Amino acid sequence: MKLKWESISTLHQNVFLVKVLAAVFITGLAFRFYAVRFGQVSVNEISDPQISPPSVIISENEDLLPIDIEVEKCDLFTGKWIRDPLGPIYTNGSCGVVVDSHQNCITNGRPDSGFLYWKWKPNDCSLPRFDPLRFLQLMRNKSWAFIGDSISRNHVESLLCMLSTVEKPVEVYHDDEYRSKRWLFPSHNLTISNIWSPFLVQAAIFEDSRGVSSAAVQLHLDILDNTWTDLFPSIDYAIISSGEWFLKTAIYHENANIVGCHGCPQSSNITDLGFDYAYNTSLRHVMDFIARSNTKGTFFFRTSIPDHFENGEWHNGGTCKKTEPVNEDEVEMKVLNKILRDVEISQFQRVVTEMGQEAGHFKLLDFAGMLLTRPDGHPGPYREFRPFDKDKNAKVQNDCLHWCLPGPIDYLNDVILEIIVNS
Ligand SMILES: *[C@@H]1O[C@H](CO)[C@@H](O)[C@H](O)[C@H]1NC(C)=O
Ligand SMILES: *[C@@H]1O[C@H](CO)[C@@H](O)[C@H](O)[C@H]1NC(C)=O
Ligand SMILES: *[C@@H]1O[C@H](CO)[C@@H](O)[C@H](O)[C@H]1NC(C)=O
Ligand SMILES: *[C@@H]1O[C@H](CO)[C@@H](O)[C@H](O)[C@H]1NC(C)=O
Ligand SMILES: *[C@@H]1O[C@H](CO)[C@@H](O)[C@H](O)[C@H]1NC(C)=O
Repeated sequence: MKLKWESISTLHQNVFLVKVLAAVFITGLAFRFYAVRFGQVSVNEISDPQISPPSVIISENEDLLPIDIEVEKCDLFTGKWIRDPLGPIYTNGSCGVVVDSHQNCITNGRPDSGFLYWKWKPNDCSLPRFDPLRFLQLMRNKSWAFIGDSISRNHVESLLCMLSTVEKPVEVYHDDEYRSKRWLFPSHNLTISNIWSPFLVQAAIFEDSRGVSSAAVQLHLDILDNTWTDLFPSIDYAIISSGEWFLKTAIYHENANIVGCHGCPQSSNITDLGFDYAYNTSLRHVMDFIARSNTKGTFFFRTSIPDHFENGEWHNGGTCKKTEPVNEDEVEMKVLNKILRDVEISQFQRVVTEMGQEAGHFKLLDFAGMLLTRPDGHPGPYREFRPFDKDKNAKVQNDCLHWCLPGPIDYLNDVILEIIVNS
């Protein structure tokens, strides 16, 4: 297994390295376990690309195949990106206002557009092109919530753009910091909320708007963030996710006591429990809450999505320069992403097993493998407006974590609609 050690360069290495080695070992074991126990999850392609089934030859007009064939058995998350001359269903022109300017890559001057002409093709079935009218009609009088961090916002903006080709959303609410928002599609009476809750548990964050922190995050692993739990009973569909924020330096609390930390301050004598402990404990409470919530809604838990920084990270010059998808065997998920995903899948699997028959309305969205092969889908330097206009050698911070809109993240909605239609 080739490992991307550069991804841990920012962390406290000596303590951490031991943990990572242990975690890699555990991860390896766990992947074998899931491959057997948890057929729904397409971990094979990530841990060992050689053993995934051979790819299917697709006829030119595969969209015309009857869509009901094999659909029930089809794993929508295992497949490949194939060329698609149709391209996205919206443009920077038709959806400029909804998109965060940092993800509006075409407007910001990204010169290549080849990355827009690929669509997701599951191995064992065809995935119909997202039909915004169908979605709106199915979702009449319904309410959706996207709960999580900025990737969640990226995803909600993608869906809003796709739906806005049929009906324009009206923003009906935002919080003081414009982090949580709600939109209404008036003629379908569909409400879509984006709820900012990057940890899902209660957190005191000391950061300015540029993400520069002045103190460690204080994280209460056993108290859920009520910005989302309060809303939960009224939601028909929710997509819940978390991940990257747990990598931050933080002090952990349980039962109102400090129990440990991650990236602990040198002077403290608090135990470094590692972010995986905190993520595991928090997700355990999240999953248990959902399992007990007894609401009629459908809940999706989305695994965290890998980034594609190369030769560095956000803050030290990492870039992503690819302009096409890559093959599965050309990429390996970074160790940190594997650890996060491993915790996510094991907590999800645990609660679904415990729920038994009741688990039908709780579903996993595991897009990690699908998006891992799209290093070309990020803004890179085009998170800023025309960054090279003044100086074509300008040093620009790259974004290899969020996704251009339009871009590969749009295909998450094709998959989600297909799951809803078939369930
Ligand atoms: C879309 O992108 C093109 C090409 O960069 C640009 O000329 C146009 O102004 C953009 N449209 C909007 C509405 O941002
Ligand atoms: C909109 O949907 C809600 C349920 O989500 C329902 O209570 C309300 O009556 C609907 N409003 C209209 C105008 O149809
Ligand atoms: C939506 O809500 C309105 C008002 O409550 C009701 O008349 C209508 O039948 C509902 N439509 C659907 C599809 O539930
Ligand atoms: C370190 O531990 C000692 C003894 O357990 C305790 O008295 C002290 O307050 C601790 N210091 C910090 C900074 O937590
Ligand atoms: C996560 O918590 C479960 C109990 O819910 C425990 O069995 C497992 O060992 C924990 N995993 C990690 C990585 O801490």
